[in-house]
Amino acid sequence: MAKIISVLNHKGGVGKTTTSIHIGRSLADMGQKVLVVDFDPQANATIHLGIQEPGKNIADAILRSEPLPYSEISDNFYLCEGSLELASAEKEFAGSVSVYIRLKKALSGIKDKFDYIFIDCPPSLGFFTINALVAANRALIVTNPTKLAIQGIPTVLDLIEEVQETNPELQLMGVLIADSEKLIASSVIEEHLRQEDFRVFDTVIRHYKHYKEASIVGQTVHDFAPTHKALEDYNNLAMEVMNG
Ligand SMILES: Nc1ncnc2c1ncn2[C@@H]1O[C@H](COP(=O)(O)OP(=O)(O)OP(=O)(O)O)[C@@H](O)[C@H]1O
Ligand SMILES: [Mg+2]
Repeated sequence: MAKIISVLNHKGGVGKTTTSIHIGRSLADMGQKVLVVDFDPQANATIHLGIQEPGKNIADAILRSEPLPYSEISDNFYLCEGSLELASAEKEFAGSVSVYIRLKKALSGIKDKFDYIFIDCPPSLGFFTINALVAANRALIVTNPTKLAIQGIPTVLDLIEEVQETNPELQLMGVLIADSEKLIASSVIEEHLRQEDFRVFDTVIRHYKHYKEASIVGQTVHDFAPTHKALEDYNNLAMEVMNG
């Protein structure tokens, strides 16, 4: 059965998209078949992966109930493109009984074709993130080691608990500390997080300018800087995820 992983946090700019595509690509390079679903109307994952000619995308599946489209980015690594058009979905389905099962329905026909499906959520806890949690069996919270970012974690945990009432398969996979700069304050916050009663991944994603640079040219660091140590972090995270 595919692990369907919602990558979420209502805090913006914490590394959700960077994580979705880099852990996805690391797992694909390790032989796992991986799909990233760009479920954010900002379509950052799609842009980051260098899609030049927009094709069929998530809006076709969500708004028009077409089969979920996806295309191969590199060996074993597939993307369902995002689209600004998706922004209208929330309004479109407001008040409808199926409002929060749109993505679950869209994934039902294809989920068995993959080992891992990562759903890159936008920075909100509304329509998109709830749809993602209803469709998923795992939740991965990404945070930065800053006071502001970790303050929001209890709200995310509350939403996961609420969705678990109707989706008992959903489990918190863990909290990932991303974009961590070498600051004393960061290690204090990391220590504090590790005392909580939820899993915090052993791997911490360090801050390297290579992620931003790679995104500008439409690549992951796997292709942009294949020998740089930045790659170690997402490869280590991929191993942790594979080991359960
Ligand atoms: N480990 C890192 N080191 C340095 N820069 C990073 C790192 N991770 C992410 N970034 C940069 O930080 C910015 C925000 O990252 P990203 O888009 O992944 O966050 P996000 O949580 O998906 O944002 P949003 O909430 O808008 O969807 C990007 O410019 C990205 O390149
Ligand atoms: Mg994002």
